[in-house]
Parts: sequence; structure tokens; C-alpha cells
Amino acid sequence: LERGPLAGLRVLVTAGPTREAIDPVRYISNRSSGRMGYAVAQACREAGAEVVLVSGPTALAPPPGVRLVRVESAAEMLAAVEAEVDACAIFIAAAAVADYRPAETAPAKIKKRAQRLGLELVRNPDILATVARRRPRPFVVGFAAETEAVEANARAKLAAKGLDLVAANRVGPGIGFDREDNELTLIWEDGAEPLGRASKLELARRLVARIAERHGARDPA
Ligand code: C5P
Repeated sequence: LERGPLAGLRVLVTAGPTREAIDPVRYISNRSSGRMGYAVAQACREAGAEVVLVSGPTALAPPPGVRLVRVESAAEMLAAVEAEVDACAIFIAAAAVADYRPAETAPAKIKKRAQRLGLELVRNPDILATVARRRPRPFVVGFAAETEAVEANARAKLAAKGLDLVAANRVGPGIGFDREDNELTLIWEDGAEPLGRASKLELARRLVARIAERHGARDPA
């Protein structure tokens, strides 16, 4: 029998970057390592949850006891999330989903001929906002990486996407992406709490403890 504040609950976590194909050998992506999302998945498992981790390509091993679903593109990530989310009480979006994808994926490798080559991009679906619009919906947690006005921008994101909780961090030289440590502030409708600066795993544990409290206190419906 599982013990811990999330015992008996299934949690869905997204992590890592996505890859958006230009042609069969090239893609657009970003510098996300996946570490924060994998740490969150591990912390949820330690808290007794059944954890499904939908991950874009990373170099990381999945945490023990976590079910890993590997995806590449944002479209694949959305499909995997939609296939899992109904069975989940909590959704935590830590993936660095590419905001845009190529309007078309070339069926064969693009040859280098032209001196200038345009690439048209179209918006990707917002996976987090899509889940937050579902009824019924899980307890929904997003991340916000901001370079400035961290709390104000995170609060705007909370409202715009209709989230229960946002974990906000400052990114920029020396902090954030592709590093072992991080600094998070939690933002919800009528409050905020700094979680301090620590390793991603330690911050994930603090975050998961707050998620368990706030999920437990949520009005049923
Ligand atoms: O709007 P922004 O990209 O800053 O929001 C970040 C949050 O939204 C993160 O939790 C990220 O995982 C999620 N997100 C998403 N799908 C997108 C873009 C962001 O789930 N297409």
C-alpha cells in the first residue's frame, strides 16, 4: 500500500523539449534538459502517487517507478496527454513545448541550393491551457520561466490559462535552463510563496508538498 500525501492519486507530468520536424533529418527545438520535470515526477512518486511522465527527447533515465511515455513533437505530446489525463487527479506541465512548428514538414531532405531559404512557422497548441479548459479537469499546475517581472507575468499566466497553481522562475544568465539548481516562487489566485533556491529535486519536493496541500483543500466539483 502506498503511503505519502499523494497516495491513491495518479499524476500526469510533462517534461523536456519538443522537436518539430523540418524534414526527415532536421528539427526545431530548445535547450530544455528535462531535469525539472523529471525531478517533479520523482517527487510525486516519492509522495506516493502513481506517475505518468510524458517526455520529449532527453538524455535522462526515468525515475524509478514512473511510467514513461516518450514523444517527439508538441502534437504527439498533446495526443499522449489527452489519452492519459482523464485518469489523473493532477496535471503538472513542466515541458518546454515549442511555441511554433514548421507549417509543412518536407517529405525528403531539403537540399542546399538556395542562398536564402525561408521557413514558415505556425503556432503549436498550448497543452497546458487545453487541459485547463476540460470539464471535469484535474488540479492543473504550470511553470512560467520569465526574464523579468516574474510574479506579475506568472500571475497573468495563471489567469489567462485558468490554472490552479504556477511555479515561476527567473531565467537568464546563470540561472534556469539546463542547470542543476533553480529558484521557484509559487503563485495562486490569492497568494504567493517563494520556495527559495535549491537543487531541482529539492524544489520539486517542496512544490509537490504544496500541490498535495492545495489539491487536498480544493473544493470538490
Ligand atoms: O505560455 P508559456 O509557454 O510561458 O507557459 C509555460 C507553461 O505552459 C509551462 O507549464 C509549459 O509546460 C506549458 N505549455 C504547454 N504547451 C505549450 C506551451 C507551454 O503545455 N504549447
